[in-house]
Amino acid sequence: MFSAKCAFSSICLQTLMNLLLLSSLCHFICGYSERERVHNLMSRYPLIDGHNDLPLKLRILQNNRLSKVDLHNISKVATDIHRLRAGRVQTQMFSVYVMCGAQEKDAVRLTLEQIDVVKRMCSEYEDFELVTSSQELRKSETKHKIACLMSIEGGHSIDSSLPALRMFYQLGVRSMALTHTCNTPWAESSSNLYGVYQRQNNSLTYFGKAVVEEMNRLGMIVDLSHTSWDTALAVLNHSIAPVIFSHSSSYSICNHERNVPDWLLRELKKNRGLIMVNLYSKFISCRDKANISHVADHFDHIKKVIGAQSIGIGGDYEGAVSFPHGLEDVSKYPALIQELLQRNWTETELADVLRRNFLRVFEDVERVRNQQSSNPPSEAQIPVEEVQNPCRLVLRPPRQRGQLSHQSPSSRGEHRPPGLLLLASVLLLSIIILTE
Ligand SMILES: *[C@@H]1O[C@H](CO)[C@@H](O)[C@H](O)[C@H]1NC(C)=O
Ligand SMILES: *[C@@H]1O[C@H](CO)[C@@H](O)[C@H](O)[C@H]1NC(C)=O
Ligand SMILES: *[C@@H]1O[C@H](CO)[C@@H](O)[C@H](O)[C@H]1NC(C)=O
Ligand SMILES: *[C@@H]1O[C@H](CO)[C@@H](O)[C@H](O)[C@H]1NC(C)=O
Ligand SMILES: *[C@@H]1O[C@H](CO)[C@@H](O)[C@H](O)[C@H]1NC(C)=O
Ligand SMILES: [Zn+2]
Repeated sequence: MFSAKCAFSSICLQTLMNLLLLSSLCHFICGYSERERVHNLMSRYPLIDGHNDLPLKLRILQNNRLSKVDLHNISKVATDIHRLRAGRVQTQMFSVYVMCGAQEKDAVRLTLEQIDVVKRMCSEYEDFELVTSSQELRKSETKHKIACLMSIEGGHSIDSSLPALRMFYQLGVRSMALTHTCNTPWAESSSNLYGVYQRQNNSLTYFGKAVVEEMNRLGMIVDLSHTSWDTALAVLNHSIAPVIFSHSSSYSICNHERNVPDWLLRELKKNRGLIMVNLYSKFISCRDKANISHVADHFDHIKKVIGAQSIGIGGDYEGAVSFPHGLEDVSKYPALIQELLQRNWTETELADVLRRNFLRVFEDVERVRNQQSSNPPSEAQIPVEEVQNPCRLVLRPPRQRGQLSHQSPSSRGEHRPPGLLLLASVLLLSIIILTE
């Protein structure tokens, strides 16, 4: 009210009403134009998101029977085609994740099944398209497709085998996180949920370095989300291609072990790599509840430490359970971009975050691959004593072949007493002599 004298006069009331109307109209128009600005920006630079676990949800909900769901609209999850379109997600890195409990069991088969389900969903639905190169990714945008990239989440998927890694590459996998919540025999996890392969100096063993080198040679993006900081540092020191954290946030803002401390961010910048910010409430506010301001704080902080050119977005939808208020599903990404615009991020910076930073890293990884095209596949093998795996058939070293006619599936040449070996050889020799 302007004054008590004025309060009851109808003219004053009229003026007040007009003012109110004007202010709400301005609110409406300003809000509208801000949304228009986001819409316009994201139309030109639609999002490349670093991490989504929809294939895991397909496993949990339907045991991968794709015919039982309509990917256009799945009410039980936060990701479907309608909402990816609404969120202006143009490329989604889909995780072909299998639980750590499968390590040393059927991790390789389960990973193949997750690859199968992603290949199916990305070919049976017109909206999707599986891509395996930066060029295909760019082309998919002009065709108005949602590009699917396949990413392994956890080195246990390759069962300590470089040939297995290469075959995954041939199937279209273009990124691998070196660990999930379990150590592998050659790299260390940020979590000690599983007590496996805890040994000194396991951050990146000799074989672990060979895995990184082979990924560099193949053109597979090394993903450091879920690894321990020691492992991340060792990889950053060793990889000749840029690497990513596909779904991790800032440790300075929320001190969770899955987040990245500033000193490690600086190493990442030297590597020309990328951190794609995870939106899981627990990694954002360190509590079960969070909002968009908390998320934007991570972006502001990381930008302050290493600049907007090292930042991307890796939502982790379907992989995590609670998301910030206003970012409940994949349709909500524009709200995050709007918040960053309000915090004076420039359109150039946001275009980088949305899309161009990831494309730069992917192209760099491909360039490193091309430079090494004359290098032969690595024949590095993990020493048998470094994999304590009862399911692994331990084959005899090559020099023993031909000395023994056949082997039982459980034979372990290196444990056989020498006396038995000698006896077997003598027997074999006598058979050969007798039958000649
Ligand atoms: C998705 O399905 C639910 C019912 O399961 C329906 O209420 C909703 O309108 C559908 N959404 C779209 C975009 O079709
Ligand atoms: C681990 O590495 C440190 C330093 O690199 C070394 O001093 C130590 O002997 C190593 N331990 C083992 C068990 O190899
Ligand atoms: C980085 O690599 C160099 C040799 O290339 C090595 O001397 C150094 O110890 C490594 N640092 C880490 C943290 O792994
Ligand atoms: C987010 O929550 C904090 C309190 O934790 C509050 O100060 C802030 O205003 C909230 N932001 C929004 C956009 O709701
Ligand atoms: C953004 O910039 C405007 C104009 O320069 C300034 O008034 C405002 O305080 C800034 N906002 C933030 C969050 O930095
Ligand atoms: Zn994860």
